Amino acid sequence: MKVTVVGAGNVGATCADVLAYREIANEVVLVDIKEGFAEGKALDIWQKSPINLYDTRTVGVTNDYSRTANSDIVVITSGLPRKPGMTRDDLISTNAGIVQSVTESIVKHSPEAIIIVVSNPLDVMTYAAHITSKLPRTKVMGMAGILDTARYRAFLAEALNVSPKDIQAVLLGGHGDTMVPLPRYTTVAGIPVTELIEEETLNAIIERTKNGGGELVKLMGTSAWYAPGSAAAQMVEAIARDQKRIFPVCVKLEGEYGIEGTYLGVPVILGKNGVEKIIELQLNDEEMELLRISDNHVREVMAVLDNMTAKV
Ligand code: NAI
Ligand code: 2OP
Repeated sequence: MKVTVVGAGNVGATCADVLAYREIANEVVLVDIKEGFAEGKALDIWQKSPINLYDTRTVGVTNDYSRTANSDIVVITSGLPRKPGMTRDDLISTNAGIVQSVTESIVKHSPEAIIIVVSNPLDVMTYAAHITSKLPRTKVMGMAGILDTARYRAFLAEALNVSPKDIQAVLLGGHGDTMVPLPRYTTVAGIPVTELIEEETLNAIIERTKNGGGELVKLMGTSAWYAPGSAAAQMVEAIARDQKRIFPVCVKLEGEYGIEGTYLGVPVILGKNGVEKIIELQLNDEEMELLRISDNHVREVMAVLDNMTAKV
């Protein structure tokens, strides 16, 4: 299993590290545009192997896509992160150009690869990578739902003083303020969360989850990387090991949930073929309305990209 991670910054290097030490891939190629940067990060990860006992080969390259040839899975993290005061959508023009050119290089050398996009604004960058790659929608997806759900689960574990391992949850929609947490589908060791927590506390956790990325940007001056890098690696693992895991993943909807053509987070089964099935939950009117709001927001940002592309 050969995995390429494009962008050797905070998220990309964390993802490569998890892929290596958990031996999810035999070979990890890290690519960056900054001379020597990916080489250095890959060498550091490789030098950790005798300490943490793994044998995944990690290689870094500066923009040399020939070294990525025949990758099975590619994770795209290249692009600018948010700074305080910026929304994810502010990143669109710079990151769209980066994601599109990286996707072209990837597909040229690894036409069969499954692509996982991480760069922001996530849903629209997944759109950019998908149309550039010309691959089927099952092979181009975005990571955000695992991260957003993890934040929600972590906050709930803290509030209930239980292990985060016992919290199961699903979130729908775009990666941003319009994400749709679903208390009805949240359980603690099988117990509906609503039986264990006050409504007011749950609502506060949902609000905190929606602003989870922004909270970290405010604290650190840049966006998060440990949870995002690990979340992307978890998607790689599900595909590499054909685990058929169910995760919220950003994918192009073609009629599911009554939505046509938008890239949104929905629960899917992830296996060796990529997105093997989109699961359609029976949403109530209130949940469906929240999903529609999220759909409208992502559509607006997709239109910004379309207009930019039309002007070039
Ligand atoms: P970073 O600045 O630490 O790393 C980005 C790297 O991309 C840099 O090393 C840069 O040199 C590289 N790069 C830029 N243009 C490139 C190109 N054309 N080819 C190859 N490499 C290139 O940023 P960080 O924190 O790693 O974030 C990366 C992206 O992921 C950002 O867009 C950020 O907003 C996004 N993100 C998305 C999350 C999600 O849930 N989907 C969560 C966290 C971050
Ligand atoms: C996050 O949610 C900024 O998308 C990034 O941490």
